[in-house]
Amino acid sequence: MVNALYYGDNLGYLREMDRESVDLIYLDPPFNSKATYNLLFRSPKGGAVQAQTTAFRDTWTWDVPAERGFEEAIASGSAAGGILRAFRQFLGESDVMAYLAMMAPRLIHLHRTLKPTGSLYLHCDSTASHYLKLILDGIFGPASFRNEIIWKRSHAHNDGKQGSSHFGRITDTILFYAKSEKVTWNRGYLPYDQKYIDRDYRRVDEDGRRYRIGDLRGPGGAARGNPYYEVMGVFRHWAYSEAKMEEMIRQGRVVQTRPGAVPQYKRYLDEMPGVPLQNLWVDMPGINNRSKELIGYPTQKPIALLERIISASSNQGDTVLDPFCGCGTSIAAADKMGRNWIGVDITHYAIDVIEGRLRRQKPRAEYQVKGRPADPASARRLAEQDPYEFQWWSNWMLGVQNYRERKKGADKGIDGIIYFHNPPHGVGQVIISVKGGQNINPDMISALEGTVKREDAQLGVFVCAAAPTPAMRRNAAAMGLVRIGREQFPRIQIVTADELLIGPLPALPRPVESEAFRQPLRPPLPTRVATPQPQLSFALPIPGMKGSRADVQDHLAGGLLAELVAAR
Ligand SMILES: C[S@@+](CC[C@H](N)C(=O)[O-])C[C@H]1O[C@@H](n2cnc3c(N)ncnc32)[C@H](O)[C@@H]1O
Repeated sequence: MVNALYYGDNLGYLREMDRESVDLIYLDPPFNSKATYNLLFRSPKGGAVQAQTTAFRDTWTWDVPAERGFEEAIASGSAAGGILRAFRQFLGESDVMAYLAMMAPRLIHLHRTLKPTGSLYLHCDSTASHYLKLILDGIFGPASFRNEIIWKRSHAHNDGKQGSSHFGRITDTILFYAKSEKVTWNRGYLPYDQKYIDRDYRRVDEDGRRYRIGDLRGPGGAARGNPYYEVMGVFRHWAYSEAKMEEMIRQGRVVQTRPGAVPQYKRYLDEMPGVPLQNLWVDMPGINNRSKELIGYPTQKPIALLERIISASSNQGDTVLDPFCGCGTSIAAADKMGRNWIGVDITHYAIDVIEGRLRRQKPRAEYQVKGRPADPASARRLAEQDPYEFQWWSNWMLGVQNYRERKKGADKGIDGIIYFHNPPHGVGQVIISVKGGQNINPDMISALEGTVKREDAQLGVFVCAAAPTPAMRRNAAAMGLVRIGREQFPRIQIVTADELLIGPLPALPRPVESEAFRQPLRPPLPTRVATPQPQLSFALPIPGMKGSRADVQDHLAGGLLAELVAAR
């Protein structure tokens, strides 16, 4: 089994996955939170946040994909189809119905890919957990339901603040289903509470081992057939045969607290596994601005949560699938715990972050990345299907450190920035402009040159999916050359999607290398004239579009800034 990261919509991959091929599925899909999850980027010069871009959106409306999802669920023949039909009668073609129509076919495929010994954990919240549970009942059968796990993710939340008419919402719900009775299950335990130890394990033997004492008498006495004999001068009906009692005495397991007292059994604390895990998980706080494991990807879950799930429902060498893997918490946990893994995410940036994460955790981690354009035709297809993702991909191929979202206003015309050493002036900037569409013209080259000037940058790179016209090339050439250090570089260069894959790439000065720019693993790049290193900007999240400047400052003050500055 080869570990794999898939970039793209999980539905396509799930349709093709072999049946009964995975042991454990954890999925943390969008929750229908009606939020947009953003990432923040910063330049190596500034303390201020420089740019914000969207990682993924969690807003749903009834549209063609929703109708298709609905039809696919109905056509599958699963009982979930009937449940979905009933939901549609009740919910109409609402946002929540669109969300459920997205989820249902994916859950049906996930069930198919699960081995008979496998389990599925669906992470959601109270927005839709009640609907999702019925859909899962329809797919797995109600008897396969194992638990509704309540995970307390934060201590307080402004949800419960004054003015709101509900209690604070501080928990998520994890629905746990087993595919069959043959399910893999390793019971987990929590350490005993110190108060309980102090109260119940008060006694300490000569070896310093804490123990408690327990009754050896047979409940029900003679009526229940318990043997009557003498132990340490005391006659009683005992729970054990005389032979067994003698063996326990030989092992030092029988204690008499004072002469004449009824002998009792010695139970050592260090032999007890702990408190069996229950379905209320309050011991693993969610990721916050001060968390050591904060990566900066919105909705990141704590690794301890995934470790608990993986150890309960899989064994070494098993395969864990996360079809909405985000920044790869499940992947990092699975890899650490000797499981094979498959992660899917529709956001190019997520795959990028996971690669950086894996590389930091295990520099020689072995895995494949699938779904990234590997040839010019697939790069052009990506540009047609999703210009925004094309922009991410081409920025990544160029080694952009700071991603920007094309928008009106001050940032207009900037899709990415590469920072480079510009002695003796410090740090220079290459402005990247990406056009995924077919309509490109020489004015766009002039506009990029204008942006380079406006931003006080030195160079510009125009990336396009379509072939540039000779007039565009002439216009770029007319912008002249710029001296950086001892070399000269064209002020404006054009690179096509084909050239991103097969070269030549634009000639660029040596980029700033910094720990602050996490370096993703990439396929070997075609020859470039200068020798830049691939690199990626760090990100700071603002969940749910609620990010104000104050949130950002708060976030920066929360330690990440210090960590990043220290790293430089
Ligand atoms: C809530 S986040 C997962 C966070 C993750 N558990 C972690 O710890 O980082 C949901 C992820 O699902 C991804 N996503 C949304 N729709 C998807 C789809 N159709 N296929 C694959 N990934 C998708 C989003 O890009 C996002 O990264």
